Amino acid sequence: GPGVIPTGLRITPHDDLTPEEKAKRLAAYAAVDEHVKPQHKVIGIGSGSTVPYVVERLCQPPHNNSNSDRWYIPTGFQSKELIVKAGLNLGDVDQFPTIDVTIDGADEVDDELNAIKGGGACQLREKVLAEAATHFIIVADSRKDSKVLGHTWKQGVPIEVAPFAWAKVFVNLQKMGCENPALRMGKMKAGPVVTDNGNFVIDGVFSESYMRDPAELLHRIKMLTGVLEVGLFVGMAEAAYFGYPDGTVLAR
Ligand code: 5RP
Repeated sequence: GPGVIPTGLRITPHDDLTPEEKAKRLAAYAAVDEHVKPQHKVIGIGSGSTVPYVVERLCQPPHNNSNSDRWYIPTGFQSKELIVKAGLNLGDVDQFPTIDVTIDGADEVDDELNAIKGGGACQLREKVLAEAATHFIIVADSRKDSKVLGHTWKQGVPIEVAPFAWAKVFVNLQKMGCENPALRMGKMKAGPVVTDNGNFVIDGVFSESYMRDPAELLHRIKMLTGVLEVGLFVGMAEAAYFGYPDGTVLAR
């Protein structure tokens, strides 16, 4: 039935989904159905709690008819696991520097489809796969839909930094007017979160005047030496799908 991967592995629960989970699934299914075509041979798979539903849909008819000669590129450990466990062909950006479609979640998306990403600390790989893709599509539940970035995602802009430079970048951000930058710590608070690339993440909250011009903010942060990537995805998404708990999907 729906939600069951042909390999026999169920990667997302399909019974008793909460309204939020149903909303994520709706958005993911709609995006796959609309944007993944049989001729697409390289698909980028993003990170987060919505993306398992993307993989789930790709393993269902008619999409699974193309799976034997299609390659899937992960944005991190989680999506790599999803691809492998679903029995799909796992590829890397070295092999496939051009991707047909990348589908990924987001932490917040504004009216112009600019996004904050990196809640899962995957923003560097996610941006590489977004930029490598001919079509970059966002899937999310309705809570991520926002007028101005920073309105709903209060944790700040995720900034991936070289460990050696984190304190210097931290001070740079404070001088820029960043409110309380925070080195992201692991769950046990025993040390910083380390990304799939061996780096740290600083979360920086910026005032609305900054957030209203995400292109300028992205540019300023990225110019700081030691910053490897910024979780502001400006002008990258072609479409975003927001699932609502009432069973509707808003496509923008
Ligand atoms: C990870 C991300 C995720 O895509 C983002 O956090 C969205 O996750 P979810 O679908 O669980 O809300 O950017 O770095």
